[in-house]
This record gives sequence, structure tokens and C-alpha cells, in this order.
Amino acid sequence: MENSLILNKIQSPISITNDVQLVAKEAHISVINGLIKYYLNQHADQIQDVFLSCFENADCVADIPQNINVGNVSALCEQLHILYLNSKFAYSNGKISRGKSKQNLIETGSVYTREDISYNIVEATLGNVGYILPEAKILDFACGTGRFYDAIIKYLSCKGIDAQSAVTNNVYAIDIDPVAINITRLKAFEHYGEVNSEIADIIKNNIILRNALVKEGLYSVVDNAIRYSDLDGFVRQGFDAIVSNPPYLVLKPSKDKFSEESAILTKNLVNYFRTSGNYEYSVEGMLNYYQISIEAMLQMLKIGGELGVICPSTLFADVSATKLRKHLLLNNSVRYIRYYTEKDPLFVNVTQATCIFHLTKGGKTDCIEVHSEGAKFEVTLNSIQQMFGAQLEVPSISGKGWSILHKLSKFAKLSSLKNIRNKRGELDLTLYKGYITNIKTKYRLVRGNMLSVNGIKDINGEYVSEDFIASKSADYINFDFGRQRLVCQQISNAASKRRLKFVYCEPNDILGNSCNYISSDTTTLAKLNILLNSSLLDWRFRVTSSNNHINNYELNELPIVDLSKVDENFKWNSIDELDNYVGKLYGLTKDEIKYLA
Ligand SMILES: C[S@@+](CC[C@H](N)C(=O)[O-])C[C@H]1O[C@@H](n2cnc3c(N)ncnc32)[C@H](O)[C@@H]1O
Repeated sequence: MENSLILNKIQSPISITNDVQLVAKEAHISVINGLIKYYLNQHADQIQDVFLSCFENADCVADIPQNINVGNVSALCEQLHILYLNSKFAYSNGKISRGKSKQNLIETGSVYTREDISYNIVEATLGNVGYILPEAKILDFACGTGRFYDAIIKYLSCKGIDAQSAVTNNVYAIDIDPVAINITRLKAFEHYGEVNSEIADIIKNNIILRNALVKEGLYSVVDNAIRYSDLDGFVRQGFDAIVSNPPYLVLKPSKDKFSEESAILTKNLVNYFRTSGNYEYSVEGMLNYYQISIEAMLQMLKIGGELGVICPSTLFADVSATKLRKHLLLNNSVRYIRYYTEKDPLFVNVTQATCIFHLTKGGKTDCIEVHSEGAKFEVTLNSIQQMFGAQLEVPSISGKGWSILHKLSKFAKLSSLKNIRNKRGELDLTLYKGYITNIKTKYRLVRGNMLSVNGIKDINGEYVSEDFIASKSADYINFDFGRQRLVCQQISNAASKRRLKFVYCEPNDILGNSCNYISSDTTTLAKLNILLNSSLLDWRFRVTSSNNHINNYELNELPIVDLSKVDENFKWNSIDELDNYVGKLYGLTKDEIKYLA
């Protein structure tokens, strides 16, 4: 039924001169509007004025079969819109066909929230609003087809606030997608069960089509920027509660994915977000809409207001989100985080490690209730500071993982060892490629791809010419050159079971920058070789590593037990033997050692 509604509508043109995606888009808009008009017609006589004033693109309306059950119209519209967002259209031999595609989802960041999840978020957010709930002003930010909007109305009804009064007085919504906005407005009409222009005015005022991230003013680069007078003026720190699944979208113009026009818009938007002065915490590094959205929501929320959001879990782990994360934790009270892995079936057509978090605006975080890997436990801001220092990561690990981190936080970090050097390989493979030769010299070139758990494999047959040494610093010559060192890869797949694999190189080896190395005296190296190859330090590394690189600053963070307690002559026949030995040095229980294996 859903499929045929759109395809029937767009079969009519026999020859298509326009872009087929645009033709399909127009057909989609007209079918949704046709359905909305059909609904309104069933509820009142003269609906043309209401339709024209309250719905977007109202000049684009398809004729709709008259046998549709009026009670199903909004659900049907929603299904059609999801289908459209997950589609790409093709045209051949006078026919248009539909294929499954993520293109629309990626370009618009439109992935809708499961109804049970949006209700849970609403319940936990509004449950904290307190006695002001009947008067509370609540925003569904980036509402799409109104999954959160519905959940808010349902929650308020359970609390004795009737749906019409909630639509009129309490609930607001904003989105940039005109079709989705039309569907949310239709849902609002359904709560009244009647249609008139007074109701239409309320709905159009409370559910708005705007770019929620670009504010009116001198630098606005779009014509649908949000105005400070919108949503009854509550956009300036006026909302008591905001709930959202904001768009996840990396703002990066790419010629393959975007038309020239949208590439220019993306460039202007990037410039706006970075330079308008409206955003402070979410505009470092690569721009992602979900981070900018969180900052925008905080600006719309009252001090003491409640925020409930579902977004990528990189927020609490990634370096790129550090500034925003610190703002959330240090200038607000984060009270709840629930993690989902990419394997959890949260969204249609999308796999994404995700989290839900709740905070109260203002104050400072004290104790967070964390749900992860099926367990629930509490983590304090103090312990996060103690374990992760300035980065304030809150990684997605179990309660047992947190208790191991507590133990590890008592040990000194690798960076504090005075007699070691933790560095990237000395030969930049691009910059110094002129020094690389196939003719045998004294100096074997070691690339990252030659490293294995069993040592260095001679698979490349490359050497380094002697004059390379002359180009290096005195420190390198004095402390690293001509010594046996411990080496690991600089690039290692984040999904691989073991990331840290250290092996010894030969004294005359020259290391490419696809390797990292540690140099020190032979006793210290023997002890570090034991610790750095254990499952414990590999696990600790993975807790805060979110990309495919092994960076020296990440190695610097590894906890190192008092080296006088490590037997440099310890030998192991299996990883279990090594893990038991190292686990005991760090004071782990048998259970904890097993957990890491
Ligand atoms: C991840 S979807 C979530 C939709 C809905 N909240 C839900 O959970 O089902 C994100 C929504 O953000 C909207 N969006 C994208 N950019 C926006 C912007 N600049 N301003 C307002 N809405 C935007 C998209 O149209 C889409 O509906």
C-alpha cells in the first residue's frame, strides 16, 4: 500500500527530464499532503483555508483514494515518510523504481527513534520537572514525525493533563524537514478531533519549520533561521524541558555526495558555526550536528531545566567531543547515561553506538547512574577526574570495568617514568622516502606491517641509506639510535581483538612512522615488555581509544606498576600466564583477570 501510493503517483510522467530524485520528492510531498487533506476533509467542511495556512508546500497535493481509514492517516504518512527517507529512485524505460538506500538518511540525518525508547526518555526527563509540570514548556527538538512529541502528550495525559491542553499550552516542536513537520502537525490535529482555523493557528505556532541551529541575525546563512520570537519566545533559555534525537551528520562537503549547491551551503554553514560566536563548545575539529544540537538545546533550556537526549556515544569518549563533554559535566548536572552498542537494534537501516543521557542545566555533576553491558552502577565525577584527568571520558564499560579502572588509577602513568622515551618511528615514510632503498645497507627499514606477536617479519626487503642518520637530532642519536627498542604499530584496527603488541627491534633497525617505540635501559625495557603485552594494558588502552591509531599520548596514559616489583626475567608460555602475573602485580582479583581475557 505505502509503496504503491508513491510509485503510482510518479508513474504518470512517461518521460522525465528532471532529476528523478526531485520528481520522486515532489510526488512524495504531494501524496503526504493529499493524505493530510483527506484527513481534514473528514473532520470539517471548508478546510481549504486551514490547509493552506497550516501546512507546508500546500500547493502540492495529490488525489488520494477515498477508501483509506481516516484513523490510520498519520500512521500511514509516517510509514511513507520513513520509506521515502530509506529510498533512492531510478528511472529507466519510462518507469520509476525504488531501491533501498541510506543516501537520504545520511544527507538529512533523519533516523527516527523507536517509540518505546522515546517514551522512556520523556518519562525520565519529565519525571524530574517536579510540581511545575502542568505549566511546563517542553520542546521536541528536531522532532521529525513527532515520536517524542507523541510521547510527551502520552506522558502528560498519564499525569492528568489532557491532550488538547498539552498541545495548546505545553508542547512545542521544531524541525527543518517540511514533510516531517506536516506529519507532526497532523498528529497534533488528531488530538483535537476537530478542525478549525483557531486550532490551526495554535498548531502552526507551536510546531515550526525552522533551522534550529542557525539563529536569526547578521550572519544567518539560511532563510529559515530560528528567530528569538519563535515558539512564544521560549527559545532564549525559556524551556523547562527538552527531549531529542538530534541529527547525526558530519558537516563535510564532499563532491561525491553533494551537489555543487549543497556543497556551497555546507561551506557557509561550517563558516557560520565556527565564526558567528553562537557556539562555543561544539565547534572544535570536524563539525557534527549532534554536538551543535546539544549546545543549541542547552541555550534554549532554563537554568534548572531538564534535558533528555539520545545521540552517538562518542560524546562521552571521543577527543573530538572533549570540550562539549567537559561543559556538560562541569557546568551541568549529568545524572544518567545509558549505552547501547552498534549491535543493539535501535534504528532502521543504521548501526551506531549510541547513548541516552539526562542532565539538569546548571550546577555541577556529582554522581552519574550508568547503564552499560547489561549492568547498572554509579560513577562519580571525582572518580572520572581521577581516572581520566582533563579529558573526562565516561567510557562504555561494565561495573567490573569501572572497578578495575579504580585500581589502575592509583598507579603512575607511563609518562611519569623518567628514563624512557615514548616516540613515533623516526623515518617519516612520505617525507623521507628518498632515503629508502632496496639495496641492502646496515639499516633495515621496519614498517608497522612487519610487526607480529612473534617479532618482526622480513616481508618488505627495504633498507635505509646511511645519510639519513645525519638528518636526525642529537637526542635521537644519543638515546635511540643503535639501541634495541620496544616497538608497536602506529595504526591498528580499532575492532581487532588485541591492539597493543610490543616486540623488540634490532639495534640497527630504522623505524618508519607507521611504528611507535619506547627506548630505555635493557632492564626497564624487559619489564615494560611484560606489562605492555598484557591483556590488562591492552584493555586499558582500548577503553579510551576511539580510532585506528595508537598515539604516543595515549600510551603515555597507561598505568605502570612500581617497576621494582616486576621480575625482568619472567617468561610466559601463554597469554593466561602473563595475564595472571601482571594482574596480580596490579592487585586484580581472579575474576577481574578473567574479565579482561
Ligand atoms: C535523528 S532524526 C530524529 C527525528 C525525531 N526526533 C525522532 O527521534 O524520531 C533528526 C531530525 O533532525 C532534523 N534536522 C536536521 N537538521 C536540522 C536543523 N538544522 N534544524 C532542525 N532540525 C533538523 C531532521 O529533519 C530529522 O527529522
